[in-house]
Amino acid sequence: MMRIGILASGSGSNLQAILDACAHGSIPAQVAAVMSNVAGARALSRAEEAGVPALLLAHGAYPSRDAYDAEMVSLLRRHQVDLVCLAGFMRLITPVLLSAFQNRILNIHPSLLPAYPGMHAVRQALKAGARVSGCTVHIVDEGTDTGPIVIQAAVPVLDGDTEETLAARILVQEHRCYPRAISLMAQGRVEIDGRRVRIKGSSGDPTRTLSSPELSD
Ligand code: GRF
Repeated sequence: MMRIGILASGSGSNLQAILDACAHGSIPAQVAAVMSNVAGARALSRAEEAGVPALLLAHGAYPSRDAYDAEMVSLLRRHQVDLVCLAGFMRLITPVLLSAFQNRILNIHPSLLPAYPGMHAVRQALKAGARVSGCTVHIVDEGTDTGPIVIQAAVPVLDGDTEETLAARILVQEHRCYPRAISLMAQGRVEIDGRRVRIKGSSGDPTRTLSSPELSD
C-alpha cells in the first residue's frame, strides 16, 4: 500500500480528511508520518490521535533551507514514504526535497489555479470580484503553485462572502479533493504529460469537468 508523508503547519483539517479516508479504506494508502515546522500545531496532535508518527522539525534548528529539506528527506525515507502531501505547509520547499520526490509531491491550494497563486488566494479572489473560485490539487514543481493540476473543484462566490466564509466553503471541497487525488496517485492513474495530467480510466466528458469527474466515479 502506498505510504504517505504529510507536511502541515496549521490546523490540519486536510490531514484529518486524509487520515479518515485511509482509515475507512476509501483510499488505498496509509499515512506513514506527519511532519510540521510549527511546535504545537494541531496537525501534530491529530497525527498522534490517529497513532501516526508526528515529527516536529523546527526550522530554527537548521543552518539553511537545504539543510532543513535534507533532514526532511532523510526522515521521509526512514518512514518509507512514497508520496509527500503538503497540507497547509507554510514553507517553501527547495530542490533538495523536490528532486528526492520528483512528481511525487502534491499540494492543495484554495483557488482554481492558475488564478491566485501564492499567499492569500481567497482574499485575492474576493478582491478581483470573481464569481467562482475553488480549490486545486497539483503536483509540486519548482514554481509557486505552478505544477500539473490533478483535480479541481469549483465553489461559487456569494454576495455576502468574507474571506472567512468563502475559505470555509472552499475547505469543504478541499476535504473531498485531496483524498481523491491521493487515491488516483495510489492507483497509478495519474499520467503527467508536460504541464497536463491525464487521469487514466476517466471518461473525460467535458460537460462534467466543472465539478471534477474524478471526484464522482
Ligand atoms: C488550506 O486552505 C489549504 O488550501 C492551504 O492551507 C489551508 C490548510 O488548512 N494550503 P488545514 O491546515 O488543512 O486545515
